[in-house]
Amino acid sequence: MKPFPATPGLTGVFAPLLLEGQIADCVIEGDLPAGIAGSYYRNGPNPQYPPRGPYANWYDGDGMVHAFHFRDGRVTYVNRWTRTERFEMERKAGRALFPTLFGPQTGDAMAAGKSLNAANDTILFHHGKVFSTWETGLPHELDPVTLETRGLYDFGGAIPHDVMVHPKIDPTTGELHLFGRTTPHPAPGDATYHVVDRSGKVVHTTSFSTPYDSMTHDMFLTEKYAVICVQPAVYSSVRLAAGGPYVAWEAERSSWLGVIPRRGDGSSLRWIEMPGAWGSHTMNAYDEGDTIVCDTILYPRGALFPNPDGSWPDMKTLKLPSLQRWHVDLAKGTVRQEAFGPGHGEMPVMDMRFRTQPYRHGYSAGWTRPAGMFDCIHHYDWRTRTLDTYVPGEGISCGEPAFVPRPNGAEGDGYLITLLFNKDTNSSDLAILDARQAAAGPVARVKLPHRIPAGLHGAWCPL
Ligand SMILES: [Fe+2]
Repeated sequence: MKPFPATPGLTGVFAPLLLEGQIADCVIEGDLPAGIAGSYYRNGPNPQYPPRGPYANWYDGDGMVHAFHFRDGRVTYVNRWTRTERFEMERKAGRALFPTLFGPQTGDAMAAGKSLNAANDTILFHHGKVFSTWETGLPHELDPVTLETRGLYDFGGAIPHDVMVHPKIDPTTGELHLFGRTTPHPAPGDATYHVVDRSGKVVHTTSFSTPYDSMTHDMFLTEKYAVICVQPAVYSSVRLAAGGPYVAWEAERSSWLGVIPRRGDGSSLRWIEMPGAWGSHTMNAYDEGDTIVCDTILYPRGALFPNPDGSWPDMKTLKLPSLQRWHVDLAKGTVRQEAFGPGHGEMPVMDMRFRTQPYRHGYSAGWTRPAGMFDCIHHYDWRTRTLDTYVPGEGISCGEPAFVPRPNGAEGDGYLITLLFNKDTNSSDLAILDARQAAAGPVARVKLPHRIPAGLHGAWCPL
């Protein structure tokens, strides 16, 4: 193939890794905590061929999953591209065929009408299966050990249309709650809400209409409610047909929270209007009387979306996101916003055993500088409203952390796992931090001889 163009989304920490393989027994510096047993999976974009159009890495890159299997004090590493339809077609052709999101006219005729699903966003672990998910599409099921692709997964035929990237699992019931969208969009009954029980059976499906057709990237789940977020990252087939971007930031729009009782009918969903902003990723949510407390990373203006005319805002003028708490008063139909306090962060996670419950500890990647790649890991203490921040040092970037609970430990008693990239050595480490003293730095590092390109989300799956 020809070389990849030396553009910002394809160089440095974003440069594609064209190698798939395995390291049976990784080099470990430091002391791997006793009792860590399970697998850490990290998904992310990694194009196999130079793109045909203007490249937006987070949307366009082929999904590659990196797995670290922790067994008996050893770590085995495996990486593999997810074999989507588009990946297989392009591998056979020996070149890119598909258009890019912001170059919709750049596709080869062979790709016309085919799904853009690149399976590059996150990892979902439910009813014993591992899935690679994408923004709008069905998940791909993967072999949990080898990462071989088993194919698209439609929940036994019960969900034959697109589902969201970040569904939520109730740790008590084992239920998976998720929203989906039917196409074409928007239309009456354009969105769907599903509940999947712990065995993988879809036990509830209902539909409803949304105020407008938006990228519904994440959601909230409490003991009583599921909440969908409709925000001004707006899809428009009309704009696309006129040569504009399919998704764009429509600044004049309000945001809306759609609150539906668990297993409720679509007619019982209630919309609550808010000022327009981009709540990218949620940390947790819980009930408090007639109020729902929703914690999210919030951008005043979504950074990954062009203006409706296809132009991009001056990135230097965009503010970094920060952790916010929304108090959603169901009696009044209002939302009160409260900032956590210090710090700029993204990719929030928590101790998943306490999802849907009042909690104290959250974590995210973050910035100590006004721009650039994530350069730190934050531990947010909601009780003291303080941050404990690990900064790996100059030239080293971080990824989303995953929380690994210590068996039978209290909330927050466990470890944080994150990928670090060192631009000087062009290689990555998997760092393991004590979650109770993150700033102290890694207690162990799994050393890799190669770079893992900057990615999106991951998941810890216990044995
Ligand atoms: Fe995401």
